[in-house]
Amino acid sequence: MINYFDPQTDLGTPARDSDVQVSLNIDGRSISVPAGTSVMRAAAMLGTSIPKLCATDSLEAFGSCRMCMVEIDGMRGYPASCTTPVSEGMVVRTQTPRLADLRRNVMELYISDHPLDCLTCSANGNCELQTVAGQVGLREVRYGYDGANHLTEKKDTSNPYFDYEPSKCIVCSRCVRACEDIQGTFALTITGRGFESRVAAAGGDNFLASECVSCGACVQACPTATLTEKSLVQLGQPERAVITTCAYCGVGCSFRAEMKGDQLVRMVPDKNGGANHGHACVKGRFAWGYATHPDRITKPMIRKRLEDPWQEVSWDEAVTYAASEFRRIQLKYGRDSIGGITSSRCTNEEAYLVQKLVRTAFGNNNVDTCARVCHSPTGYGLKQTLGESAGTQSFDSVMQADVILVIGANPTDAHPVFGSQLKRRLRQGARLIVIDPRRIDLVDSPHARAELHLQLRPGTNVAMLNALAHVIVSEGLLAQPFIDARCETEDFARWRDFVSLPENAPEALGPVCGVPAEQIRAAARLYATGGNAAIYYGLGVTEHSQGSTAVMGIANLAMATGNIGREGVGVNPLRGQNNVQGSCDMGSFPHELPGYRHISNEGVRAEFEQAWGVTLQPDPGLRIPNMFEAALDGSFKALYCQGEDIAQSDPNTQHVTAALRAMECVVVQDIFLNETAKFAHVFLPGSSFLEKDGTFTNAERRISRVRKVMEPLAGKADWEATVALANALGYPMDYRHPSEIMDEIARLTPSFHRVSYAEIDRHGSLQWPCNEAAPDGTPTMHIDQFVRGKGRFMLTGYVPTDERVNSRYPLLLTTGRILSQYNVGAQTRRTSNTAWHDADRLEIHPDDAESRGIQDGDWVGIGSRAGQTVLRAKVSTRVAPGVVYTTFHFPESGANVITTDNSDWATNCPEYKVTAVEVVKVFHPSQWQKRYQDFSDEQQRLLKERRTQEKAEVRR
Ligand code: SF4
Ligand code: SF4
Ligand code: SF4
Ligand code: FES
Repeated sequence: MINYFDPQTDLGTPARDSDVQVSLNIDGRSISVPAGTSVMRAAAMLGTSIPKLCATDSLEAFGSCRMCMVEIDGMRGYPASCTTPVSEGMVVRTQTPRLADLRRNVMELYISDHPLDCLTCSANGNCELQTVAGQVGLREVRYGYDGANHLTEKKDTSNPYFDYEPSKCIVCSRCVRACEDIQGTFALTITGRGFESRVAAAGGDNFLASECVSCGACVQACPTATLTEKSLVQLGQPERAVITTCAYCGVGCSFRAEMKGDQLVRMVPDKNGGANHGHACVKGRFAWGYATHPDRITKPMIRKRLEDPWQEVSWDEAVTYAASEFRRIQLKYGRDSIGGITSSRCTNEEAYLVQKLVRTAFGNNNVDTCARVCHSPTGYGLKQTLGESAGTQSFDSVMQADVILVIGANPTDAHPVFGSQLKRRLRQGARLIVIDPRRIDLVDSPHARAELHLQLRPGTNVAMLNALAHVIVSEGLLAQPFIDARCETEDFARWRDFVSLPENAPEALGPVCGVPAEQIRAAARLYATGGNAAIYYGLGVTEHSQGSTAVMGIANLAMATGNIGREGVGVNPLRGQNNVQGSCDMGSFPHELPGYRHISNEGVRAEFEQAWGVTLQPDPGLRIPNMFEAALDGSFKALYCQGEDIAQSDPNTQHVTAALRAMECVVVQDIFLNETAKFAHVFLPGSSFLEKDGTFTNAERRISRVRKVMEPLAGKADWEATVALANALGYPMDYRHPSEIMDEIARLTPSFHRVSYAEIDRHGSLQWPCNEAAPDGTPTMHIDQFVRGKGRFMLTGYVPTDERVNSRYPLLLTTGRILSQYNVGAQTRRTSNTAWHDADRLEIHPDDAESRGIQDGDWVGIGSRAGQTVLRAKVSTRVAPGVVYTTFHFPESGANVITTDNSDWATNCPEYKVTAVEVVKVFHPSQWQKRYQDFSDEQQRLLKERRTQEKAEVRR
């Protein structure tokens, strides 16, 4: 009997959503199910398991294996229960002697071409073929193994994470369908016919060389050991599973961490995951080996000077030393001479504690987070227009969208599971507009392509958004009733008059953007009139000198066309890191307390003062770039940096490292000696997401549990280290479990009032606001009214960036991510994901390459007003002439040596996406790279030669 209530139970075919209920009788028992449900699923819902091989409830039925035959009154033969929908009054028999015979015969055929190595097979005990053979009572195979078979076919072990063993394949095609329907890559196919049919990966001789992106959906779908995780082959079947959340991107996929003792065997996406529904990408599913990598530092370390070798000390010694340094520096240079950075990779509870420590124990508001360099303009822009600093929809909302506008985002690389969902919607007929300087995969991928790709020049988003708005207003495409009912009248009128100006017409701004006016008009018409229209945007919008303006421009478009406040529409920032939404929510910005409440608000401050027992400073503290400036000015002397590698991720590396060098005490808390830690005086070993409890909040405001599956390698989870530091500073913190921290957050944050671990466990996950008004959370925001009351149209005048091309720097560099690597790469570089991307490369258009004598693979020097570095060239038509592109995952590439410290006018978010550069063919590394290598080698030596001492000798 199968357990229908166990969410992991495979009910054979997908659920159907219908208002019409159909009643039928299965083996003498009655059941009512939604119309369209298969007989197989209806039986499973009664607890009756019909044998199956080619069916699984994550895929539409295919009907190829014939194991699931049933008898149905009035129907001839033995219909397949997976492909037969229920009908009213149907009478079904799933177990009869005749069916048993037929099923045994089919199974006999399968087994006659299958190795009988069950005892030594990695799937032993968890193989559907084995289970079904037992289920149908197979006792002998009459055909022998002498005839033609596939038993000697060669194994493909090329993929670093899974093997393909064709001798075990039953050609059920679940893998092919998973790759098509779930992942949307279409990398697999069945070649040949009948007995000759085999699974093949397209586009290469083996899996690694093929078009496969290693998402693992096929591995998960395979009912046999044909496609199997290497970790499972090595470690054997897991014994238990813990539900937790991916620590990579802002999709926030839910996983079952399958364990054997305290060893992780594999990560299997959770079917119940609200953001991922059982799917994952190569990072979350496979790239977790970094968590136990030998480079992990598991002992606290201190040193007086950067030139000194590290000394391993006890936790007590390390936090006492850090605290004494912070206090010494404050005494000497003043209260505001120190600050902290919270991590978007750590949990909500940990980010909350760091900002609390800064505001209480440090006594200032010098706290910031990496959102400063990514989505701070989202926070500002959406707050101004809509009243809340977060995306408006669930990911699932895209399945109701008719038109999807992707601007400055590359979901298939940076948010892969959402990218797959988006592609699924496109295959169902939704229409796509891409606005991006680069031809991202979505522009033209198998069975999903953009109707319009507006390949604008980097730095012209605001011009483009104004031109789109001009068309909507001037061609009478406004949703006037929505605007009248929901938006501020005067602001709207001002905006309408502004965008109507001839200078905002596509004919005027098209040449600025480098996009034909007709394309802009077509895109505006499609967005405004194509039905439900949803906007998805990323760092290609925010990381500009007018990032906040562009976010407001996007919100304006949504309000102007009434595309907000229901499913299928909205304004959706695709947040980069796993908990960047959460770190912002938790009060990590210098001007805001948790829940985005301004520090200058006396009432709000009073609430926190009472809870925290301190007097809070009423003025905003320093943002990260201000901290660097102040460090160079000599007024900022110490930093507590948790889980953030500012020396690699922030722009103008040489400026950042000079600032770090200027400080007297840099405390880094991380799992590796990252680039910032090379400038540190105290190293507090961090804990991976597998080693702690807590929560992450994804891009759709979904708060999900992170659950500890193993003890912290360094003995403390990150939150415990912050607690220890606060206590050493004389500010008492006394939490026994992160749930107590969440209870405090919930008490003090109106949008979190009903959030608790118990409630999250009950719902699986919760989307904030979750409070008295919305006890089950809020998947879609601004339904009846905007959070700020009336929506506010903001003026978005286009101001070209100061970063211009000239004869010295004639090309525009823009940067981004790649699927297999993550952010600064500290995690993914320490996994086999390097098989796909082992170095950053510079994409350059063939015309620009040719005029510079550059060929694919050549070393090229790239120089900007900020610095120079050297990368290998990748000649590609993905970029337009005049534009070059690189990723920033490898520190030695120095992509951020080139980026400037231009930044968004409202939030200081750096303008990573526009840097004027020149590219030339070279034969040796840049001066910066030589200096970097020397310094890095020296720091690695100092780490390697670290001393262990009972008592540290570095006290001043
Ligand atoms: S590889 Fe697995 S899923 Fe694919 S056809 Fe073979 S048995 Fe089925
Ligand atoms: S791993 Fe993913 S992309 Fe690769 S073949 Fe399997 S389903 Fe397709
Ligand atoms: S899509 Fe993002 S959250 Fe999901 S598995 Fe991949 S990296 Fe993790
Ligand atoms: S499970 Fe129905 S035909 Fe394979």
